[in-house]
Amino acid sequence: RFTFVTKSKSVTTMAAVQEYPGNLKRQVEKLFDASLRSTVPDETGVETEVTASLPGKPGDYQCNNAMGLWSIIKGKGTQFKGPPAVGQALLKNLPASEMVESCSVAGPGFVNVILSSKWMAKSIETMLIDGIDTWAPSLPVKRAVVDFSSPNIAKEMHVGHLRSTIIGDTLARMLEYSKVEVLRRNHVGDWGTQFGMLIEYLFEKFPDTESVTETAIGDLQSFYKESKSKFDADPEFKEKAQKAVVRLQGGDAIYRKAWTKICDISRAEFAKVYQRLRVELEEKGESFYNPYIAKVIEELNSKGLIEESEGARVIFLEGFNIPLMVVKSDGGFNYASTDLTALWYRLNEEKAEWIVYVTDVGQQQHFSMFFKAARKAGWLPESDKAYPRVDHVGFGLVKEEDGKRFRTRSSEVVRLVDLLDEAKTRSKTALLERGKDKEWTPEELDQTAEAVGYGAVKYADLKNNRSTSYTFNFDQMLSDKGNTAVYLLYAHARICSIIRKSGKVIDELKKTGKLALDHPEERALGLHLLRFAETVEAACANLLPHALCEYLYELSERYTSFYSVHQVIGSAEEASRLLLCEATAIVMRKCFHLLGITPVYKI
Ligand code: ARG
Repeated sequence: RFTFVTKSKSVTTMAAVQEYPGNLKRQVEKLFDASLRSTVPDETGVETEVTASLPGKPGDYQCNNAMGLWSIIKGKGTQFKGPPAVGQALLKNLPASEMVESCSVAGPGFVNVILSSKWMAKSIETMLIDGIDTWAPSLPVKRAVVDFSSPNIAKEMHVGHLRSTIIGDTLARMLEYSKVEVLRRNHVGDWGTQFGMLIEYLFEKFPDTESVTETAIGDLQSFYKESKSKFDADPEFKEKAQKAVVRLQGGDAIYRKAWTKICDISRAEFAKVYQRLRVELEEKGESFYNPYIAKVIEELNSKGLIEESEGARVIFLEGFNIPLMVVKSDGGFNYASTDLTALWYRLNEEKAEWIVYVTDVGQQQHFSMFFKAARKAGWLPESDKAYPRVDHVGFGLVKEEDGKRFRTRSSEVVRLVDLLDEAKTRSKTALLERGKDKEWTPEELDQTAEAVGYGAVKYADLKNNRSTSYTFNFDQMLSDKGNTAVYLLYAHARICSIIRKSGKVIDELKKTGKLALDHPEERALGLHLLRFAETVEAACANLLPHALCEYLYELSERYTSFYSVHQVIGSAEEASRLLLCEATAIVMRKCFHLLGITPVYKI
């Protein structure tokens, strides 16, 4: 279960320097900052520690510093008798603030804060007028690179790339919302020895290479397999392929052209997936960095990092039992040399302060190693939490019911487009079963089926902690019950329909109406709305999108608790409750947006 309590220094540092109106936790923390300073001497060097209280506990936020402070000041002539007394002093020294309703000290010295419902209502009203973007977090970086999706030319995009695409897009969206300029990079595998074999096979199959079309080649994945079989079986072909690599890398025009052709066909296939998922990416494939590699390797060499080992050139790194190879024994460059060069480029040419790489956890060692090499070269600070900073965002496998890796019956990797098609078809069938074709236009039906189907695939992926593997199950992800996109999209649509049915012009109501959080269910919902910004901030800081899914699901649950006991339309509190409905719908839509899910307004 996600809580804001995190001991990670990165988050503390991040929060400690950033202030913005949306961050409720930070605002409470500021009050305690002041109280801490007047309670104990500055030299304790203790950082204020405020956490959101768990449901069912007294208070909305809690300051946990009393025990820690006590262990530092005891026996040093302090007037306090123990942690509870420190807690009492923290409470007494809290500056007066309209946001606080009351405080109390509990147990060994926790200071509980109950926020003022009036103040909370006012904050939500302000957001309704000024817009949800005023709640956007601010992070200590201006520009970031998110390296994601990154499939390989002539190979099918598989579910692993789907995960990278979905997780990377969400991270990019969350950072963008937090006013970070994001360079969305598709580090396509468009270079390497396999191209020799592909090009040679292309020449053989289509002697008139100039005029060969996309349709003639057809399925590139099969083309890849055919050429690979030939490569393995035919030594003459193998030799030709090896020579082709040299000619391609030497810049031979005819080989370059053939290479471009193969890349273009793959690219068109990838584009279809991105278009369906509505994911934007800028391709800077491995080949983009070719012109810089030699220079970068030379720089590493001049810094004394590179050594000879069995004909290859490598970097030895502490803590790893194998060295990082940066130049192969045949003089060619590899995945690591390209990644080192891309990092150099992103830091120096693109001036990125935070670079995150989204791939399966299987590549973790590769990333740890080249990050370490970059630190050794002095490109990055010693501390992995300081900026400029790099992070590998690793994710687990997608599995089938039987716990095996996700494969089709013929044990091929599952084609991404087929998955998306099926999700859409299934959600359309469900809509037809409910007779929606009689109520809606064909376009509405199609758009809803797509939003729900693709949204379900994305959400099923994002709601799990990314580092764990998850089981792909259409029935589960397309269910309208439980923590699914379908359930959440419908919850949002129902709120919209309540507002529509009220007959009130909501934009007018925002200006004239008053919001009140007098009842416990209204207050609990309001408090959760106000925790939106700190949730996004933590999800960014920890690079964990599932925190936002948990937030969203909890939001819909709190809404349900509110709606099931309080009448909205026709009640004495109608205006206030409609505003609360609207605020909930706005925050839900922002969550959908950040998760890359298209909201629906009718069900
Ligand atoms: N093309 C690689 C793969 O499919 C992923 C590349 C990830 N990005 C990077 N900079 N290494 O496994």
